Amino acid sequence: MDYESLLNLVKKRRSIRRFKPDPIPDDDITKIIDVARWAPSGFNMQPWEFLVVKNPDLREKIVELISDIRPLTRRMEQTRETWMGKPWKMTGLTEKDMDYTTAPVYIILLGDPRTNVGLPMFIRYDGSSRQLIYTSGLANAFIYLHLAATTLGLATQWVSATHTGYVQCMIKEMMGIPVNLEIFDMIALGYPSMEPRPKLMRDLKEMIHYDDCGPDGFRTDEEVEAFVKRARNWNIGSHRRKPETH
Ligand SMILES: Cc1cc2nc3c(=O)[nH]c(=O)nc-3n(C[C@H](O)[C@H](O)[C@H](O)COP(=O)(O)O)c2cc1C
Repeated sequence: MDYESLLNLVKKRRSIRRFKPDPIPDDDITKIIDVARWAPSGFNMQPWEFLVVKNPDLREKIVELISDIRPLTRRMEQTRETWMGKPWKMTGLTEKDMDYTTAPVYIILLGDPRTNVGLPMFIRYDGSSRQLIYTSGLANAFIYLHLAATTLGLATQWVSATHTGYVQCMIKEMMGIPVNLEIFDMIALGYPSMEPRPKLMRDLKEMIHYDDCGPDGFRTDEEVEAFVKRARNWNIGSHRRKPETH
């Protein structure tokens, strides 16, 4: 593996939110999970389990559970600071319009916080360090899932609403997930039915700082706000079912 191959892979890995309903070979699912289990985790605790959801009824129920919280998330979004512009969710869209609903496979990454007892005592007894190390390991496994899927020509989408309180609770009950495991996040997996739009990227040089960094080397509040606004608008565009017309 050389640098160019890695750079190409990470550029190719994009959130693709339009899926063909065609099934994925089971072997590919196993291969993707095989890669993820090699992810680094704090003190090699490997605090993960992978729950593959292929059953269409279960997938539909997960979509319904996420739909349940949409009225509340929309109301919360109305309280955003006005300088940010449009709410992230366009009015008139329902969960059925969100394209992860057509993906043939979901993988739910579960975290097992019981493994935290294996962390060194100075971390185990420091709540924020413990949580950070545990969550970072899960995040690593999760991104490995995305990268592995990309190498097999598959599209992936994060579906983070699955770890919010109500949705997590109901999925756990519906799928018999033991009470001491936690949903980290869910990935929707399938063959892509569109090309992602070019990614809005920050400038490389702007984000690299060397040695003693004076305050001038970092972005001002205004510059951060301006970027947040652009990134939100870009992101909203990426979620639309139809490509942006402007
Ligand atoms: C922690 C995290 C949570 C995310 N949650 C969602 C999500 O719930 N739904 C979604 O469509 N995309 C989600 N994304 C994807 C981001 O929106 C996406 O990575 C970002 O806009 C950059 O686009 P790219 O993935 O095409 O490079 C999430 C990404 C991260 C890292």
